Amino acid sequence: MAARLGRIDVPPLSREFVEQGRFLYLSDFLSADVTAQLIAAVAAVKAEVNRNYLPGHKQGGSVSRHTLDQLAPFIAELYRSPALIGWLSELSDERLQVSPADDPHAYALYFYTRPGDHIGWHYDTSYYAGRRYTLLLGVIDESSCRLDYELHTREKGVATVSGSVQIPPGGLVFFDGDRLRHRISPLGAGEVRVSLTFEYLTDPKMHFGWRLISNMKDAFGYFGFRQVFRRGAPGGTKRGPGRGPERV
Ligand SMILES: [Fe+2]
Repeated sequence: MAARLGRIDVPPLSREFVEQGRFLYLSDFLSADVTAQLIAAVAAVKAEVNRNYLPGHKQGGSVSRHTLDQLAPFIAELYRSPALIGWLSELSDERLQVSPADDPHAYALYFYTRPGDHIGWHYDTSYYAGRRYTLLLGVIDESSCRLDYELHTREKGVATVSGSVQIPPGGLVFFDGDRLRHRISPLGAGEVRVSLTFEYLTDPKMHFGWRLISNMKDAFGYFGFRQVFRRGAPGGTKRGPGRGPERV
């Protein structure tokens, strides 16, 4: 990872990132070896996908960090990679930090496997004291799904710019969650798409009330109550791989 990142000239990308309202897309980012390990991780957690459906907003499956820690530790290693965090910090000119241990979004796989799976227009809102950055990595894409986005929507006096990209395996999207309005368009019949997201923060402190709101959102919208709340309190029950959330 360090060797690959060392070969990338960061300043031009950093300028592009700023010009695009703190958003960057690269179609070819990960090495083939890392992408292959992510594809293997998808196979390892397939039986643990939590399906969710919020009418009019989203439909799909997800696997939170807690399950990835048990079944696909390579993803946790990649998330914590000092080379990766250092590179993203340089790119964004921020001191990025990993998310707290109880945040199921810190790293998660998102599965689009049934026709119509999608997520509607939204921001990746930060419930933390600092900014929340999303790193989205393509893992499997045998689909017509697109990441549609709008830049500069919250910048006064700047015209909104619309765009749309497909994220191939090994591709990257990196953005400030509160600035990029985005969606994933619906999956077609016979298609499949799996993406990985990492969440990094500039300040991981969070007000108690916000943590509760954030957890409820995650429980309903993403990972299910068992994954979100099982580590919420000291002494919470640890769940083995055999007693997972609802299966796909
Ligand atoms: Fe998002």
